[in-house]
Amino acid sequence: MPVPFFDLKRQITKIKPDLLQAIDACIDSGTFILGPKVVELEKAFQEIIGVKHAVGVASGTDALHLSLKAIDVQQGDEVITSPFTFVATAQSIIYCGAKPVFADIEPNTFNLDPLIIEPLITKKTKAIIPVHLYGLPANLDNIIAICEKNKISLIEDCAQAIGARCRNKSVGSFGSAGCFSFFPTKNLGCFGDGGIITTNDSSIYENLLSLRGHGSKKTYFYDSIGYNSRLDGIQATILLVRLNYLDGWTNKRRKNAALYHSHLSSVKELILPVETPNTMHVYNQFTIRAQDRDSLFEFLKKSEIGAMVYYPLSLHLQKSLSYLGYKIGDFPNAEKAQSEVLSLPIFPELEEKEIETVCSFIKKFYGQT
Ligand SMILES: Cc1ncc(COP(=O)(O)O)c(C=O)c1O
Repeated sequence: MPVPFFDLKRQITKIKPDLLQAIDACIDSGTFILGPKVVELEKAFQEIIGVKHAVGVASGTDALHLSLKAIDVQQGDEVITSPFTFVATAQSIIYCGAKPVFADIEPNTFNLDPLIIEPLITKKTKAIIPVHLYGLPANLDNIIAICEKNKISLIEDCAQAIGARCRNKSVGSFGSAGCFSFFPTKNLGCFGDGGIITTNDSSIYENLLSLRGHGSKKTYFYDSIGYNSRLDGIQATILLVRLNYLDGWTNKRRKNAALYHSHLSSVKELILPVETPNTMHVYNQFTIRAQDRDSLFEFLKKSEIGAMVYYPLSLHLQKSLSYLGYKIGDFPNAEKAQSEVLSLPIFPELEEKEIETVCSFIKKFYGQT
């Protein structure tokens, strides 16, 4: 039986009547850019993340870019982040004219290692962007302490981590801004591109409102050079319907992760994902480290078992970022991760039988029955 890596159709089929009804009402409203549905979504985010403000934008990439602009990151500044993330994290820094400065990851969490950050801080350092990779919160307590001590801003990349918690507080509520993506494969996705920024800081909020709308606070009066980065009403409509199901889907992802743990903990060639003290993982990905990863990946592909490598090449080794001057060996933990990680199917509608199938093929590959 083939097992897909991700199958959105299973989810959409279940909630299609609700979606169609809501989309129908949105069409009848005649408001398609920003508007009441975006305001409703922003209010819902204030509540679920536990912040004063939320601003809907056109993508998770824009959420990062606009947040950095809103805290005035500019040419000549430096921003510290992980080399083991999706490229948008670093690109958002570059869009501001600033320089990404990479710090290696912790081997067990794949997240930014706070112990490595402090020596990298210079007079030019304006912010740190921890990425809550795969849905596991980064070591926020230590990173916040570094930010406070050095008077630099914290911008959280929450693209993969909606609903994840640290000390029972939602990610996206710790920093100057929390940046979320609604890319369709995220735990809460829309039917296109979309994103949202959360913040407790009223002046950052005002800046964000202006930045997403061409730099204007009053219609047709432009105080700064802004962007066209508005969330569509129809995407907000879809997100509001799907938001009702998010907690259930997260619980299902966590149950799936527990099933993988029960089946695979005996396979000594694997290291399974961890949940760190005081955090809640939301498993946007269930990412293992595997001995002989490439052969296992090939074997699973041939056996029609979906799997993915996030990410096969760390950002410091990417051609587009070679001008930063990094080389092989600079971030050993990220480089080891890129050759060992493999993400297994974890989406909420996955059936127990399918997880058993994935695990039995993995065991077969390593010669276990
Ligand atoms: C860690 C991370 N940061 C940023 C982004 C960018 O989000 P988007 O694709 O919505 O622009 C993504 C999404 O793929 C991501 O995974």
